[in-house]
Amino acid sequence: MTAGATTRRSLLIGAAVTVVGGIAGYVVASHSDAANPKPPASGTNSYGPASGGGTSLTTVSSVPPGGGVIVDSADVVVTRDQAGAVHAFSATCTHQGCTVNDVSNGVISCPCHGSQFNADTGAVVNGPATQPLPPVQVSVRGDQIFTT
Ligand code: FES
Repeated sequence: MTAGATTRRSLLIGAAVTVVGGIAGYVVASHSDAANPKPPASGTNSYGPASGGGTSLTTVSSVPPGGGVIVDSADVVVTRDQAGAVHAFSATCTHQGCTVNDVSNGVISCPCHGSQFNADTGAVVNGPATQPLPPVQVSVRGDQIFTT
């Protein structure tokens, strides 16, 4: 083997290593977080809604006027009156603690013993409950309804 042949073989191997290394480096870099930055998850920046805290309950557009949405995870019933204003109450019936299960025609109903509450005020419409549903403070930001 001559010194010239060794040099050509070394050059070819070196070039092949360089090409493979370059491809591997490109593949790794193109799949890194630096190559694909994700927007921050927080809503306290220009990518999300204005901050204000609270937990998102539902959207205004998903609550029909005169109707409501029961958010079991938060124990809240969110309603809208005929003018479109948003109201919220505890979803726990004041009679014996069942969770209300229906809002229609401006009335919140409990399935256990038939109590009914005014969906705009929480006041008792029909017993056996005697106490209104306690109000829950919420805030509306854009189409989102949040706990406060
Ligand atoms: S618990 Fe709701 S009516 Fe009795």
